[in-house]
Amino acid sequence: MADAAATPEIEFAQVTKVIEGKTILADVSLQVARGERVALIGPSGAGKTTLLRMVAGVLWPSVGRVRVLGTETGAVHGRSLCQLRKQVGFLYQSDNLVPGLRVAHNVLMGRLGKWSLWRAFWSLLFPREVERAAASLQRVELQDRLWALPGELSGGEQQRVAIARLLLQEPKILLADEPVSSLDIRLGREIVRLLLGLAKERQSTLLVSLHTLELLGEGFDRVVALQQGRIVWQGPPAALTRDLLQQVYGAEYRTLQLDALPLAGRTA
Ligand SMILES: Nc1ncnc2c1ncn2[C@@H]1O[C@H](COP(=O)(O)OP(=O)(O)OP(=O)(O)O)[C@@H](O)[C@H]1O
Ligand SMILES: [Mg+2]
Repeated sequence: MADAAATPEIEFAQVTKVIEGKTILADVSLQVARGERVALIGPSGAGKTTLLRMVAGVLWPSVGRVRVLGTETGAVHGRSLCQLRKQVGFLYQSDNLVPGLRVAHNVLMGRLGKWSLWRAFWSLLFPREVERAAASLQRVELQDRLWALPGELSGGEQQRVAIARLLLQEPKILLADEPVSSLDIRLGREIVRLLLGLAKERQSTLLVSLHTLELLGEGFDRVVALQQGRIVWQGPPAALTRDLLQQVYGAEYRTLQLDALPLAGRTA
């Protein structure tokens, strides 16, 4: 049997994804080891969200194979696919919470993957469940907002509640698709640090797509750069150069926040 520690938790083998005749990902090969914390960068339309959705098991390759936690996503259905999806937590840019539900209910929906709203309500009759929600909120320093409605929280607080819900799901893999795009740089840094810290502590694999490159220096092990559906570069954040980013981002380069990123090479 293969050494479990050496088997990648996420593996793309020559993956191409075609949607409505358009090639979205082209010949992508990628391996991510357990506990590795990877940032996915690239201009708008490069394929970052598509790649993350393939890891989450909601999109399948047109060509090639995607293996997640040892399971080929395109080869499982029904219960096995649900089992796989439960082990992958997904944090979106915003709108992660159900607006009409109190924070406690929203957090408890992370339990057992997809709880129905009824079960989330019902669960609050059990003090043990409320304790669980409160403990998870404590991890993101929001234990005092248990009974707030999402609309009463700031954008950063809402993201922290969504992270508390993810924690209750206890996923092996954490995916976040531009989780800080709707936040200012200070709150964005806070959320990225929280994700990196939690992933490290739990030995969870973390894959985050980011437009705010200033945050790459917060502790990612590796950066993967996509351009027009292809991986054009990967390496440690410290190896990124201005020239490389200019090539990857083209016209979008000027909109990037690069002030705090120690980059080598020509200034734009
Ligand atoms: N369901 C779909 N049908 C048709 N085209 C799609 C679909 N999903 C994505 N695309 C196209 O695939 C390309 C990659 O999309 P994707 O959302 O993965 O990019 P992205 O890197 O996440 O971009 P952004 O930074 O803007 O979020 C885009 O050109 C997009 O229009
Ligand atoms: Mg996207």
